[in-house]
Amino acid sequence: MKKLLTLIIGLMSALTMTQAETTPNNPLAGKKVLIAYYSRAGQNYVSGDIVNLSVGNTAALAKKIHAITGGDFFEIRTVKSYPTDYHEATEVAQKELREKARPELVGDLPDVSSYDVVILGYPNWWGTMPMAVYSFIEKSGNLAGKTILPFCTHEGSGMGNSVRDLKKLCPAATVLPGLPIKGTRMYKNDPTVDTEVARWLQSCKK
Ligand SMILES: Cc1cc2nc3c(=O)[nH]c(=O)nc-3n(C[C@H](O)[C@H](O)[C@H](O)COP(=O)(O)O)c2cc1C
Repeated sequence: MKKLLTLIIGLMSALTMTQAETTPNNPLAGKKVLIAYYSRAGQNYVSGDIVNLSVGNTAALAKKIHAITGGDFFEIRTVKSYPTDYHEATEVAQKELREKARPELVGDLPDVSSYDVVILGYPNWWGTMPMAVYSFIEKSGNLAGKTILPFCTHEGSGMGNSVRDLKKLCPAATVLPGLPIKGTRMYKNDPTVDTEVARWLQSCKK
């Protein structure tokens, strides 16, 4: 009887594992996934007001995506931090964009060669990705051969030109349609974001 019970429990746990690996909630099951994102906590523009974000909107969205896909999680951070003040930050970012700057990044970057899929997140800055994301991509071999799933948070411009810029920067990668989520919705914890994230990931399934 004890042996039979052990066998049943063993079979049940094997079944649970298989179910977890192929859960319909994770359309990327079976793929090696890296979520890499840049996000800036501090003052930001939300629904016409300047508010102080303790966690950046893109970071919050990255966590939601990670809860579905799992995989490795990497925050792109710059050695020199941006001003906390919103207006000052926009000025620094605009100058960097104009000068095609490549800000230095903190620490060792993940070895992207071992991943099938890179889910790449960033805030829309002046209509494209922050220059730190350009630094990350270039230091990661322009993500050649990878499937890139871009997502961004913004305050009205959606993905802007970022997907076009990404395709130009990563000609040997497959760039799938992006997920733009308004930062205000993250700040206000809009529960419909979860459905949108799940639908987007489902649409990226190959
Ligand atoms: C430097 C800077 C530039 C921005 N440029 C744009 C823009 O061009 N279009 C837009 O819709 N939002 C823009 N925003 C708003 C951010 O994209 C938005 O608040 C985003 O959710 C911030 O994400 P984060 O908290 O992860 O950094 C900008 C914000 C900053 C700080």
